[in-house]
Amino acid sequence: MNQISKNTPNLDNFWMPFTANRQFKAAPRLLAGAEGMYYTDIDGNKVLDGTAGLWCVNAGHGRKKIVQAVERQLSMLDYAPTFQMGHPVAFDFATRLAANAPGGASAGLDRVFFTGSGSESVDTALKIAIAYQRAIGQGTRTRIIGREKGYHGVGFGGISVGGLVNNRRVFPQIPADHMRHTLDLERNAFTRGLPAHGVELAEDLERLVALHGAETIAAVIVEPMSGSAGVILPPKGYLERLRAIADKHGILLIFDEVITGFGRLGTPFATDYFGVIPDLVTTAKGITNGTIPMGAVFASRKVHDGLMTGPENAIELFHGYTYSGHPVACAAGLATLDIYEEEGLLTRASELAEDWQEALHSLKGLPHVVDIRNLGLVGAVELASRDGAPGARAYDVFVDCFHKGLLIRVTGDIIALSPPLVIEKEQIGTIVSILGDALKRAA
Ligand SMILES: Cc1ncc(COP(=O)(O)O)c(C=O)c1O
Repeated sequence: MNQISKNTPNLDNFWMPFTANRQFKAAPRLLAGAEGMYYTDIDGNKVLDGTAGLWCVNAGHGRKKIVQAVERQLSMLDYAPTFQMGHPVAFDFATRLAANAPGGASAGLDRVFFTGSGSESVDTALKIAIAYQRAIGQGTRTRIIGREKGYHGVGFGGISVGGLVNNRRVFPQIPADHMRHTLDLERNAFTRGLPAHGVELAEDLERLVALHGAETIAAVIVEPMSGSAGVILPPKGYLERLRAIADKHGILLIFDEVITGFGRLGTPFATDYFGVIPDLVTTAKGITNGTIPMGAVFASRKVHDGLMTGPENAIELFHGYTYSGHPVACAAGLATLDIYEEEGLLTRASELAEDWQEALHSLKGLPHVVDIRNLGLVGAVELASRDGAPGARAYDVFVDCFHKGLLIRVTGDIIALSPPLVIEKEQIGTIVSILGDALKRAA
């Protein structure tokens, strides 16, 4: 499968993101088509999508309704600005999102700022938080608290509050500090669902308040379930505690739901799953089923209205993107929400979660497996690292699985799984069977 074949294009000019370019180009893996749960590579081989692309194709691939909506919108209004101008589809999509906002109607997270990606959603939310604090007379609150191992995209704001060293070490950052992460293999390895130990880690926010002074802190941002660092789950009671401490100190709480948004945990948002209501929620990915780049920040009425001050002819927030509310992305998003609703996909993961959990945990005991984690339709298998070569073992498993017709994702020595929410039980079996065989072969 896909070493250099007669179908391989010239690979020299595309500088690939988050990729070992030279290694990849020596032995490329190239996908040319997709339908339902499967990719097809350039040589016609089928590959089961165990990762929903990059955690984004929640309704499966090639959805005709989205294709048609995009075609229609593109021929009617291909582009129009949203700076001091508007077009109906952006307002329609915001209205529709607001009606299905995280936490339901009572949460009031129904003011929607459009972006073009998860990274833009994060930087937008951080800027809104700082601007809000200033607007309510708390202008010294400019620091943001993140968490070790957090991933919040690659903007300067996102890397500053993120906690993955390779994304941070080369670049300057905005004022931030970090709570400890919640991964604790010693106490929690092989837990099914939420870990029992670690609620006390939320007290790190108190520690950072004591260190920096609450009057310097605008917001705290966390992924309610951290995906990119290798599926790290919040201990029971942790998010509730974080909410309480943030409230006590006038700190806004931001949930980064770029991965968990749109059904991944078996509820529309992780906000719903945990029943903890933040002040801002960042989304992207599943918002258009991955088809057209887009993101959205849901802001509470409190935050939004706090910024709707000053003279009515003054711009309230000096922020926005050329593609904020892009008409084609909004059309794709509306069609995506139709599919999610018609097929019950925003809650489907809850119906499959038990089977998913059993299937994944059946891998316990295979060579090198040191932990298995799961929640909703997310899973992780953590491997012991090879001496002196962190990441090499999981990478070998990734390549092996691809050649056997399964796409997984690896971060360091953690294998992450997050299939489209349309997956069938039989395909869960296929994932575990191909992965299990690859683990048995792994050196
Ligand atoms: C939690 C989280 N935030 C932000 C991002 C960045 O999104 P994007 O790659 O669309 O910029 C990601 C991407 O995986 C993510 O998982």
